[in-house]
Amino acid sequence: MPTLLHLDSSADLATSRSRAVTAAFAEEWLACGTDHAVVRRDLHRDPLPHLADAALHWPPRLRPPEAAPPADAEALQRQLIEELLGADVLLVGAPLYNYTVPSTLKAWLDHVHVPGLTAPFDQPAQPMAGRPAVVVSSRGASYDAGSPTEGWDHGVPVLDLVLGQALGMAVEVITTSLTLAETVPALADQRDRARQELDAAHGAAREAARRLGTTG
Ligand SMILES: Cc1cc2nc3c(=O)[nH]c(=O)nc-3n(C[C@H](O)[C@H](O)[C@H](O)COP(=O)(O)O)c2cc1C
Repeated sequence: MPTLLHLDSSADLATSRSRAVTAAFAEEWLACGTDHAVVRRDLHRDPLPHLADAALHWPPRLRPPEAAPPADAEALQRQLIEELLGADVLLVGAPLYNYTVPSTLKAWLDHVHVPGLTAPFDQPAQPMAGRPAVVVSSRGASYDAGSPTEGWDHGVPVLDLVLGQALGMAVEVITTSLTLAETVPALADQRDRARQELDAAHGAAREAARRLGTTG
């Protein structure tokens, strides 16, 4: 059964762009076939705890001898990793919060990135290698090449590093910028661009879902 793991992390339950775009992706994914499934994890409505113990960053064989992480935290981590391993495609709604990912999404990353288990370390473990990860990035402002804010977006790069470099997944990024243009008067002259980017993001999400849902 082709399974999509659908994560959202926006704290905006009314007008979130990333939620709207991931929802379009998930709808298109389900339309690819009656056997297509979606596992949903809303990291804002049901936030994960912070990582309970630094030892959980490592598999048991790489932990210090005195390490004794709480059993319930270890069980939760196992569940999250199994959920990820069960996904043929990962979909991540990733708003830009204070120039990085929301802390709810960071907590998920902290649980699933385990060197030596989900990423190479002392052995070449990379069980998610090659599987697609579609990141939907929504940003209030713009971070264009050559502009003063170029390089200020630290949200997409950390997802690229953890999911792409460490876990070896095939990361695709769909971006919608200037989302604050609708509400912030100083950005009002950017509304056309913002609307065009949002439309393009919806189109890209539906195209990616059809492509990834009908291959493999
Ligand atoms: C806590 C918080 C921090 C934010 N920080 C930034 C920021 O650093 N840069 C930016 O461009 N927009 C920032 N924004 C605006 C959001 O990126 C923007 O509203 C985006 O559309 C959020 O995604 P969403 O529409 O899926 O909720 C912030 C919004 C919130 C709520």
